[in-house]
Amino acid sequence: MNTITLIEKLNQEKQLEAEEWVFLIENRDQPTAEYLCSLAQRIRQQRFGNRIYTRGLIEFTNYCKNNCYYCGIRRDNQKAERYRLTQEQILECCRLGYELGFRTFVLQGGEDGFFDDARMEEIVRTIRRAYADCAITLSLGERSYESYQRLFAAGADRYLLRHETADEVHYGKLHPPELSAANRKQCLYNLKKIGYQTGTGFMVGAPGQTAECLAADLDFIRQLNPQMVGIGPFVPHHDTPFANQAGGTLELTLYLLALLRVMLPDVLLPATTALGTIDPKGRELGILAGANVVMPNLSPVSVRKKYELYDNKICTGDEAAECRQCLARRMESIGCQLTVERGDYQGGNCDV
Ligand code: 5AD
Ligand code: FES
Repeated sequence: MNTITLIEKLNQEKQLEAEEWVFLIENRDQPTAEYLCSLAQRIRQQRFGNRIYTRGLIEFTNYCKNNCYYCGIRRDNQKAERYRLTQEQILECCRLGYELGFRTFVLQGGEDGFFDDARMEEIVRTIRRAYADCAITLSLGERSYESYQRLFAAGADRYLLRHETADEVHYGKLHPPELSAANRKQCLYNLKKIGYQTGTGFMVGAPGQTAECLAADLDFIRQLNPQMVGIGPFVPHHDTPFANQAGGTLELTLYLLALLRVMLPDVLLPATTALGTIDPKGRELGILAGANVVMPNLSPVSVRKKYELYDNKICTGDEAAECRQCLARRMESIGCQLTVERGDYQGGNCDV
């Protein structure tokens, strides 16, 4: 086996065997990474030109009933200062976002029982009425089929739910026993079935992650064929059981972004905040490795520091009030342009 030949095969056939993924990950070197990134960049440019899609992220609650070992807003972190935005505050974020040119709002929160179906439905319906031309993306974790269905009927179009890791055993090392990879995957199939444009993803360099785990992640993503894939480096949070674990690297994250772009040419692929956190130019480099989405923070500056999933998260200070402008400049610096288009998935039929 040879890395360049495997990349060519991936580009032709859009899939690889598990051993081939493992080989490609374990034997990566600089020439391979350069070859892969330029291919990924070319594919992105072919499909999307220099347009980078933008989604306004509203982190509306950091209460969470889950206890994932990696996450700063896990239930047992007593030091997390909890907050919830009111419906009025959420709408205010949308108003501001709309003025700034956003046509997609991402409502993200911990698994917070306060936001039950009735409350979420009301919020989604209100946003839908006020912004008929916008996409509403939810990122609320695992919910029942019926709940996903009700929120879809209320006007939500898209849902983000990272599978975190496709490997059952690895899943168990990152989560307490009440959570399972099987349930997570079922949620994703449910979301697709209901008709959401669905996003999944995983953390790069999560504790215990092997090349085999990553091969399973890539193969799961190929089978699910989601419209969006969010990946970013694992970054330790000081008040979690993983405080002393090593973080994921820029290099491996970029490599995986590029592999994803080659495997799924049409997918919406964000250069994530976590990537921008581990390197000052992380998001720009992510775009140059094939990513085509950025998600500026629209949350009120007063709560941003509290939605701290990991240490040193960027865009939490007063200076970050205008992430949109910041990102626009950053994208221009690499010859790209933020677009106001909704950026719906333009690929083929994605039925599961
Ligand atoms: N480092 C990086 N990403 C994290 N997430 C949660 N905790 C961390 C961390 N410590 C990611 C998870 C989750 C998403 C919202 O944030 O993948 O799905
Ligand atoms: Fe938030 Fe740069 S994107 S400060």
